[in-house]
Order: sequence, then structure tokens, then C-alpha cells
Amino acid sequence: MNTISVRPVTPTIGAEITGVDLREALSDPVIQQIREAWLQHQVVFFRDQDLTHEQHIAFAANFGEPHIHPTVRHHPEHPEILVIHADENSKSVAGDGWHTDVSFEQTPPTGSILRLTEVPPDGGGATLFSSMYAAYEALSPAFQSFLQQQVALHRLGNLPGHRQDETPPSAFHPVITTHPETGRKALYVNQGFTKQIKDLSREESKAVLQYLYRHIENPNFHVRFHWLQNSIAMWDNRCVQHYATWDYFPATRHGYRVTLRGIPSS
Ligand code: SIN
Repeated sequence: MNTISVRPVTPTIGAEITGVDLREALSDPVIQQIREAWLQHQVVFFRDQDLTHEQHIAFAANFGEPHIHPTVRHHPEHPEILVIHADENSKSVAGDGWHTDVSFEQTPPTGSILRLTEVPPDGGGATLFSSMYAAYEALSPAFQSFLQQQVALHRLGNLPGHRQDETPPSAFHPVITTHPETGRKALYVNQGFTKQIKDLSREESKAVLQYLYRHIENPNFHVRFHWLQNSIAMWDNRCVQHYATWDYFPATRHGYRVTLRGIPSS
């Protein structure tokens, strides 16, 4: 049996996986090992994966169905692929702020698999990932139980790279969710899309959300991933937020993301 190697990069979140060539069809045991590492470490990283778009989509299909983004520009030949691009003409970049992908949908995506093909010089364009398990676990038990009774509205707002619809998609989600596969509790509000905690006044909701957004910025919950050409990051949207730094203007950063469709709870 093939064995891959999984090396954690912080005690809390993130692991690098080596010993696997993602261009090839993977055996069931290898897929299982990657899935287990992804669930345990919340985001996993691969290096030197020079995939075609078809291989990228095929790798993602081992972990779920592809999600087609409702508003962001797709790859012209592959609707499953989002193009991530910034250069000297960019006025904004996708993901430049803490967020959970597509949390404004009723059943948000389980995961996202991003490959960069062009990386800015000098370590620019890193992506930060924050563990929402760690964020939840660091709250006091009294605040945890208060939040467990709350539900929040998520809505597509004014984010760079998103087309604005007249009626933007929206959904309510519990502020504290239970991961359906690991059973761990996670904080589930994000600056990108969460608008209001339903049963609080606007002012109360704003104060609580601002506190939580500051809380998730604690570096103890984070891993910072420095990209190289053909690196891949595969994160679990059910327990991770991420932030794409834009510290490299006017250099170019380019890549492709396949997102995994959410699974409705039965
Ligand atoms: C995103 O998926 O939000 C973009 C992440 C990145 O470009 O690092």
C-alpha cells in the first residue's frame, strides 16, 4: 500500500503532505489518508503538483462534487474552476479579508482546493488560515453557551470579484456549528458574509460580531502558507477561515480553485 507522509506545520492547524503525485489516479487508501489528514489538520498543503485542469478536477472529485460559484467568474472551459488572478491592473483581489467560502448559501461548500501557477516574488501573496475549532475552544464556557443558542444571517455583500445581484443569496446558520464528520464544534461567523445575529439588536449584534472577528485574528489559531509555483492548499470550509494577503502589488499572482459542494444534512 502507498503511504503518504503528513507533517503538521503548527500544533493547531495545517499539515504538509508529501509522497503523492496528484496527477495520477489515487488508490482508495491514499484518498482515505488524505481525507483523514484534511479532517484532522483542517488545511493540507502539497508542493510541486503540475496538474492540468482536468487532473485538478479529478483530484477534487475524490472528496466531493464540484461547486459552481453563483457569481464569481469561472474558467471559460471549466465551470468547476474559479480563476484567481491579481496583477498591476487589479483594484482589488478575491479573498483579501477573513472569510469562509460561500457561507451565504444554504449548504455552503465543504472544501476548496487552490493551486497557484504564478506566485509573486519574495514570499508575497501568502494565504492565512485560521482554525475555527481553536477559536471556539478559546472562548469561555459561558460565552460558548450563549453563542450556541444564536443563529446568524449570511449574505453575499460587496466583495471584490463578486457580481452584484439585485437579490443577493443569503442563508441563516448557527453561530456555533458541529462539524458533521469530526463532531468538533466550530465558530461559524465571518467578516466576508455574516451580516447579523438574528435575535440580537443591530447594536448588540455588531458588538458581538466585531469581538468575534477580532478574536479569530489571534495568531495562535493560524497557519501562514507561503506559496511556490504548483503548490496546492486544500482547506475545510466547515472549520477554517482564510485570508489572501495582497502585499505584492504590482506583481502577478495566478491560480485556480475547485470548490467542493456542500452536503445537505439529512
Ligand atoms: C480564496 O479562495 O478566497 C482565495 C485564496 C487565495 O487566493 O489565497
